[in-house]
Amino acid sequence: MLKSPAFLGRLFRTPAAIESPRMPVVLDKSPVLVAEGLTRSFGSGDTKMYALKDVSLALHRGELNLLMGPSGSGKSTLLACLSALLRPDSGRVTAHGRDVWSMNNAQMEEFRLKHCSYIFQGYNLFPAFTALQQLEVVLQWGEGLGRREARKRAEHVLGQLGLSNRMHLRPAALSGGEKQRVAIARALVKNPSFIFADEPTSALDWDNGQQVMDLLKECAKLRGAMVLVVAHDHRLESYADRIIRMADGQLVRNASPDSPKRPEPRKNQTRVRINEFEFANV
Ligand SMILES: Nc1ncnc2c1ncn2[C@@H]1O[C@H](COP(=O)(O)OP(=O)(O)OP(=O)(O)O)[C@@H](O)[C@H]1O
Ligand SMILES: [Mg+2]
Repeated sequence: MLKSPAFLGRLFRTPAAIESPRMPVVLDKSPVLVAEGLTRSFGSGDTKMYALKDVSLALHRGELNLLMGPSGSGKSTLLACLSALLRPDSGRVTAHGRDVWSMNNAQMEEFRLKHCSYIFQGYNLFPAFTALQQLEVVLQWGEGLGRREARKRAEHVLGQLGLSNRMHLRPAALSGGEKQRVAIARALVKNPSFIFADEPTSALDWDNGQQVMDLLKECAKLRGAMVLVVAHDHRLESYADRIIRMADGQLVRNASPDSPKRPEPRKNQTRVRINEFEFANV
């Protein structure tokens, strides 16, 4: 629930510690996000079940990771534990060298705000705000931009996502693909170092799904973000630098492709720039 501008200010504070988007992305080999022995259960007594069983993995900058597996295998639970949304029963998550789950509430909140962007199937857009306002609020309350500058930048980003003629509409009047592009635009204006997306394409048609994956891929490649995407559609595997497969709360070993595949460019692909970055096919 939104309570006050102060709340919004905390929600969308600017990631000041994140490197300038103008700087070239220099990738080192050490992982930016590490999970060690993550275990998470739900319920108690006879109904207790383990959604995660001793999961360890290391994720790197500049990579798009696809997390796949059957329904109920623990994908969303793993994503939530990695992204500081759900506390594991045991195990450790280390982000940029910091133990995430030993942070106090204020540190944790700051970590989420500074470093993480979340994209969920349900879009999580504010129903009362237009597409433009969804972004403006991030820029005004998060980055502290003035109204005029926030509007200019929000219009620019939405325009480049092909939403110029939709930006004054509220979510109820937008299609699924349009809503998802607004949610992505809102996630990207933060310039996060970690992007967590839980089934971002499942409500979209193939064309819109590809657009979303193109954008997420470019975020990894051009901004050096670590992108973790939960997906079911095997056609999306071509976007992955790494495929992580789960079954019954555990990782399935040797799931990565021998060599990362690049998606074939689509016909009529155009390239656009968002802020300082060029994105494909919007
Ligand atoms: N809040 C919860 N309370 C009780 N059980 C839960 C809760 N969240 C998840 N679970 C259980 O944990 C297991 C893993 O759930 P999770 O949502 O992580 O699976 P998933 O791989 O994301 O599945 P899907 O592909 O259907 O989204 C499931 O058996 C689920 O019922
Ligand atoms: Mg899920």
